[in-house]
Amino acid sequence: MQNPLEGAVALVTGASSGIGAATARALAAEGAKVAVVARRLERLERLAAEIGGGGHTALAIRADITEPAQAVEAVGRTADELGGIDVLVNNAGVMLLGPIENAPTEEWDRMIDLNLKALINTTHAALPHLLDAARESERGCADVVNISSVAGRVARAGVGVYNLTKHGVGAFSESFRQEFASRHVRSTLIEPGAVETELVSHVREDAREIVEKRFAEITRLQAEDISETIAFAVTRPRHVSLNEILIRPTEQVG
Ligand SMILES: NC(=O)c1ccc[n+]([C@@H]2O[C@H](COP(=O)([O-])OP(=O)(O)OC[C@H]3O[C@@H](n4cnc5c(N)ncnc54)[C@H](OP(=O)(O)O)[C@@H]3O)[C@@H](O)[C@H]2O)c1
Repeated sequence: MQNPLEGAVALVTGASSGIGAATARALAAEGAKVAVVARRLERLERLAAEIGGGGHTALAIRADITEPAQAVEAVGRTADELGGIDVLVNNAGVMLLGPIENAPTEEWDRMIDLNLKALINTTHAALPHLLDAARESERGCADVVNISSVAGRVARAGVGVYNLTKHGVGAFSESFRQEFASRHVRSTLIEPGAVETELVSHVREDAREIVEKRFAEITRLQAEDISETIAFAVTRPRHVSLNEILIRPTEQVG
């Protein structure tokens, strides 16, 4: 039997670690050619070599997608070198927690620039390719998967601007869904709870202690728990659109 994503091309942002790297592996295993995009090229090349070694195709693209020109170029290279874009996974994100009071506002800019502006710019650049894929591919549909968070549904003290960005991702995904539903570009919002990745390592020390304490007692999700879910969503038949998926570790309460 043919792999569900045979002939399809996927672009995954933030693929040099965590959920993005796992997603690239999962989509390649379903038959997609995968462009892996992030800033750490060496890691991307290692991942692409691993995927290639498994008999699949991957293209490593170094880009800081907070620079709109680099996001556009990453999309263009994917389409040119792999032959279009059928699946876009907007995964790159940063979580810089801490109280609003006395916050270094440079951290707010970093979250807004990556979690929001890079996501909408990458989506905008990929759109013509996604619409082509939905019209012309054998699957007859295309997919945009946006990685939000439980923080995109539930606001908490100390999470303010991360909450703001992830709530924004949810609103944009729903608006996108409505605009493109009749043209078969599906929109899937993924809202993970705590996943064991590098994400928390970028948080300031005082705020990091609070997060680490909060999740110390629970068994966190693995990146593969999320990537399997993404692979499931984008391999549904053309008439099925999984719009919103909230995935917490079983023991995570809030
Ligand atoms: N881990 C969790 O508990 C959790 C929970 C809910 C939601 N999420 C969301 O899941 C997504 C992935 O996070 P993760 O947990 O897998 O963390 P991660 O391992 O830190 O991955 C973040 C990725 O984003 C990339 N990135 C950062 N800045 C970038 C830039 N300017 N341009 C391009 N790529 C950039 C990083 O690569 P480079 O540094 O190489 O550029 C890295 O590959 C994020 O959107 C996060 O908010 C995570």
